[in-house]
Amino acid sequence: MINRSGDKTDHLELSRVRAAFDDETMEVSKSWFEEYMKLMTYYRCAIMEIETKFNVLNEEFSLRYDRNPINGIKTRLKRPESILDKMHRKGIPLSLKAIEENLMDIAGVRVICAFPDDVYMLADALLSQDDITLVKRKDYIANPKENGYRSLHLIVAVPIFLAREKRMMNVEVQLRTIAMDSWASLEHQLKYKKDVEFTEQMAEDLYYCAQLSAELDAKMDALHAQTKMDSFT
Ligand code: GTP
Ligand code: MG
Repeated sequence: MINRSGDKTDHLELSRVRAAFDDETMEVSKSWFEEYMKLMTYYRCAIMEIETKFNVLNEEFSLRYDRNPINGIKTRLKRPESILDKMHRKGIPLSLKAIEENLMDIAGVRVICAFPDDVYMLADALLSQDDITLVKRKDYIANPKENGYRSLHLIVAVPIFLAREKRMMNVEVQLRTIAMDSWASLEHQLKYKKDVEFTEQMAEDLYYCAQLSAELDAKMDALHAQTKMDSFT
C-alpha cells in the first residue's frame, strides 16, 4: 500500500488555508476548503510533471554530452496567504474558478542552469514537447527589468492524468543561470528585509551587480562555446 506521507502536513495546511480564507469567505462551506485542497494537489502534480521533464532532459544531456546543464531545480506552491493577497490586489472576487483562471504562478518551478545557452536550450526542449502548451513567455534576459533582474519566464500548461480525467494546469517556469539566481536571491533578501530601508544607493549598487553578473554570464558562454568547438576537433 502506498502511504501518503503528506497526511499530517495536509492537516496543518488545511488549518492555514482556513485561517487565510475564513474572514473572506464566511459562508464558504467545508466543501469549498476541500475543493481548494484538491486544486492545490493538482498544482502539486503539475509541478511534479514539469520537474520530471527537466530531470529527464538533464539525464539525457548528461548521457549524451557528459555534462549537466541543470545545476538545480527549486519548486514551490503559492501559499494561501499569497493567493488571497494577489486576488485582492487584482480586485477579483474569490472563487476557485477565478483563482485558477487569473493566477498563473500558483505552481512554480525554477531551473538553475550552468550557462545562458542552457537556459534557451532547455526552454526550447520543454516547449517542443507535444503535451506542453506555451501560455506566456517573458524574456528578461534579452530584455532585463529596470532593476537589472534577468531570467527567462514561461507560463506553460501541462496535463495531469487523474483516474477519470485529464486536467490542464498552468505552471510558471523560471529559467536562469547561477549568476542570475544569486543576484535575484540577494536582491530579494535586501528588498524584503524588514528592518533595512531599501535606498536609491542600494538600488544603484544592485543594478551594477546585475551588469557584472551579465558580463560573467557572457564570458562563461564564450568559454563554453570554446570547449564545445574543442570537443569537435
Ligand atoms: P507577479 O505578479 O509578482 O507574479 O509578477 P508578474 O505577474 O508581473 O510576473 P513576472 O514574470 O514579472 O515575475 C514573476 C516572478 O519573477 C516573481 O514572483 C519573482 O519570483 C520573479 N521576479 C520578477 N521580477 C523580479 C525582481 O525584480 N527581483 C527578483 N528577485 N525576482 C523577480
Ligand atoms: Mg509571482
